[in-house]
Amino acid sequence: TSLSQDELKTLVGRAALDYVVPGEIVGVGTGSTVNKFIDALATVKERIGGAVSSSEASTARLKALGIPVLDANEVASLSVYIDGADEIDGRGYMVKGGGAALTREKIVAALAQRFVCIADESKLVSVLGAFPLPVEVIPMAASQIARRFESLGGQATLRLRDGRPLVTDNGQHILDVRGLAIGDPLAFESEVNQWPGVVTVGVFARQKAHVCLLGTAQGVRTLK
Ligand code: A5P
Repeated sequence: TSLSQDELKTLVGRAALDYVVPGEIVGVGTGSTVNKFIDALATVKERIGGAVSSSEASTARLKALGIPVLDANEVASLSVYIDGADEIDGRGYMVKGGGAALTREKIVAALAQRFVCIADESKLVSVLGAFPLPVEVIPMAASQIARRFESLGGQATLRLRDGRPLVTDNGQHILDVRGLAIGDPLAFESEVNQWPGVVTVGVFARQKAHVCLLGTAQGVRTLK
């Protein structure tokens, strides 16, 4: 009997507990896979120093389970950040932001010495870009940034929620860019980061995963 995607997420969420350092503060990402990790983390909450969270949604779940949440400004460094991905390649480069939390995710990831990615095997790709690339933008720059992506061969659309532009936890908008094949994630991330009005591009190359726990039919596969 093969495991459902939900069961694979539970499996990798639990496996990530092995990377939590006793007594320390844990960096926590966002998404349905991370929700499974948060549930697992609650079972060892007496043994950790709390969490730094990457979204209002994760903060609410952490607090509901009795895990203290610290402000990122109170923390100089984290040993580990645990988060999902929308796509990950064999080198640990990722596309993230499907849950619109990419900016805070990159900020918390940048505090951490190690990024542990948890994902089901559907997220593993050879080239990033099939998943529409999320880019958080300052609203007044959205159209000019969309045109810049068009010149690179992409089609950018403003993410909507209930018929209105989605507003992120940071009060900004999200463009989703289709049609890109991101062969050089480091160069791509640097380039897009230069464009006025870009808050965060969803390519995680500098903040790449050091370890990926991939949920497969055969169990958890660890990619390093
Ligand atoms: C959130 O903004 C994203 O970066 C998530 O990490 C990503 O969407 C993965 O979510 P799932 O675990 O729900 O697939």
